[in-house]
Amino acid sequence: MAEPGHEPDRIVREAPAKLNLTLAVIRRRADGYHALHSVMVPLSLADTVTVSLARVSAAPSQKGLGDSTAEFDSTARLDSLAISGFEVAGVGQNLVLRAIVRARAAVSETWPSAPALPPPLAAELVKRIPIASGLGGGSSDAASALDAALEAWDATLSIDRALALAMALGSDVPFFLASGAARISGRGEFVDPLPDLKGRQPAVLLVTPRVAVSTREVFEAFSRGVRPIHPEAAQDVSERLAADMAAGLRGVALLGRAAELATSNDLLPASVAVVPTLLPFRIALARLLALPVGQSGSGPTCWTLYSSLTAARKAARVVEKAIQAGMLPDIGHGPPFVVATTILTRPAASPADRATSPADDNRGHRVPRGGDNVAVSEPESPTNGSVGESAEQDER
Ligand code: C5P
Repeated sequence: MAEPGHEPDRIVREAPAKLNLTLAVIRRRADGYHALHSVMVPLSLADTVTVSLARVSAAPSQKGLGDSTAEFDSTARLDSLAISGFEVAGVGQNLVLRAIVRARAAVSETWPSAPALPPPLAAELVKRIPIASGLGGGSSDAASALDAALEAWDATLSIDRALALAMALGSDVPFFLASGAARISGRGEFVDPLPDLKGRQPAVLLVTPRVAVSTREVFEAFSRGVRPIHPEAAQDVSERLAADMAAGLRGVALLGRAAELATSNDLLPASVAVVPTLLPFRIALARLLALPVGQSGSGPTCWTLYSSLTAARKAARVVEKAIQAGMLPDIGHGPPFVVATTILTRPAASPADRATSPADDNRGHRVPRGGDNVAVSEPESPTNGSVGESAEQDER
């Protein structure tokens, strides 16, 4: 067992949330899924997934480890998962465990010690991204777990296998395998990388009412005809945003588009059909903040954009005070989750990164950023440092 503070066998991955800046639903596909066009960006708000080789016990155990933590041993392989932070129901169904199980099945085909299988893993998940909120937390956890499991086993998968595995776990998982801003199409499997926004990254205020919104139910409502009045408007805005980001859009220019982005989510009417109280909540929030309020994915998370993290934090305090004063509709099981965060940029490539062989050049990640679909190519424009840097600058 490694000493505390020095645990080389623990593989730690930050699993960022995502924000849909746009979300156009193009059509319903023959397989029941919907073809999309969306510009998605990762956020600095993140869960943490940690994976290490498990110490195998004689028999499977299942035990609680405290109020917000639970442990589950999958009977087949003795993988375990301990969760802290936000409460998560049904640990055994958690995408972290499912990603590990599927990764093992994929890796076992070429596992050097076959018929022995890749060994059990002990995973930990710190949940900071609200669950079922339109922020992709579960999908991001799954992508991180897949990547970390491969590293723990010193294994790799081809991009095609990794993509198939990601799609089997969920439509948003390929985006998280790729890292960075991207144009999403198909059901979610086509992930074309976009350069980071230039200059200072916009900050984002997220307000998530504590109401469960089922993505499946929202898409079903859309299929039944609950759609925006102007059916192609979101697609136009989404395609223009993707083209402009590909050409090198500045962060400040994104702020100027907040009003059109906020209305460019084709799932807005369907989300309201599923949870009607979302509409008065969003209207009240827009009035309070005097800014356009958008929705990420199928909701319920509402977003507003700011030029700095300081401004977003100030807005967060305004929202928290309004909640305490009962100025926002009380629509969930408890007060909404409120957080100020920023759009996450790719780390600037260091000379050491550039010197590594292409197969290893994944900034410490195991899933190859290669192939036709999942993001591979480096962004066209240079990045301007990490979010941490911009946040620090902002606080000075
Ligand atoms: O793929 P994921 O499990 O995230 O999707 C949840 C549900 O949302 C699917 O079962 C499907 O009903 C719906 N969906 C869809 N079109 C997409 C993504 C999801 O219809 N592109």
